[in-house]
Amino acid sequence: MEFDVVPHPNPTPESAIAEALADIGFGTTYTDHTVVVDYRVGTGWHSARVEPFGDITLSPAAAVLHYAETIFEGLKAYVHDDGSVYTFRPEANADRFRRSARRMALPELPEEVFVASLEELVSRDKAWVPNGEGESLYLRPFLFATEAFLGVRPATEFTYRVIASPAGNIFGGELRPVKIWVSRDYVRAAPGGTGSAKTGGNYAGSLVAQRQAIEKGCDQVLFLDPLHENAVEELGGMNVFLVRDDNTLITPELTGTILEGVTRDSIIQLAKDRGFTVEERRIRLEEWAAGAADGSITEAFACGTAAVVTPIGQLLDGEETITMTGDFSTTMSLREELLGIQTGRVEDRHHWLHKLA
Ligand code: COI
Repeated sequence: MEFDVVPHPNPTPESAIAEALADIGFGTTYTDHTVVVDYRVGTGWHSARVEPFGDITLSPAAAVLHYAETIFEGLKAYVHDDGSVYTFRPEANADRFRRSARRMALPELPEEVFVASLEELVSRDKAWVPNGEGESLYLRPFLFATEAFLGVRPATEFTYRVIASPAGNIFGGELRPVKIWVSRDYVRAAPGGTGSAKTGGNYAGSLVAQRQAIEKGCDQVLFLDPLHENAVEELGGMNVFLVRDDNTLITPELTGTILEGVTRDSIIQLAKDRGFTVEERRIRLEEWAAGAADGSITEAFACGTAAVVTPIGQLLDGEETITMTGDFSTTMSLREELLGIQTGRVEDRHHWLHKLA
């Protein structure tokens, strides 16, 4: 697919990019360009283009605004020492994007168009890729229904877009162990629902619980399984792992209600490479609490594209607090290895990197 290119008429000057990258947050600054590909039933994917980043014109009746017909992805681009820019396992994100599309009755974007769209954007906005420790250019592909129609049925017109945003620590400031609030009032997903799709509604539904978490002084919310008492599912926007003292990682199994994280999958591989046992199974909060108390479960961490690997220091469940007593050495060394591969400092033995620019 060929992309037409309309370059930004006034690209951000180098000094302003440097200023933006000096005070890097998460998701607040956007690069100069965006990629757009439209889709219409009967026509298919068409009008692929790169254009200046700007506001979108949409009918107030667009289906996405009413029925949340939308999906997204998250990937990161990293600059290597030779100045090239790479991303990590984009085929896995392309694959999940198609799975999410199927679940949400959206059209499936071919993998080659997904990957090409990242190349098109990053090759133009390469100057925006930060190179500080743990920093990257966060890439956000998304697809939504533009058709103006208030009847409830799968739409027939859609737009795919990619935007890019320089990213530091999603939790703000320096990396530190985060505090998690266990949601007892809300669940995130149920069997047969949309839990494993990366769709906006899952995140919208998590926000009232996330607000409670913040009110309790926590960084993120942990959701439990609605069917099995006290079974750990995932955080509002990331997967969760426990580290047991017998070289074992434990993470909730994928049952259709959990987001199938690319970082989750990569951590499982890296841990197995080290000779760790990885258990994907149901984890009850009681097991987490007992393990933390008797010192057998030493560490816990959150992982995701945005979160990378972030230690969990404490879990607040009502009046109860579970405190992790380990030194996070396993968590941090998995984080270092993953970031090392992504930034080209550690051998990419699984061929996970893809050069974008
Ligand atoms: C990601 O890790 O890319 C996510 O999608 C999490 C969040 C920023 C929504």
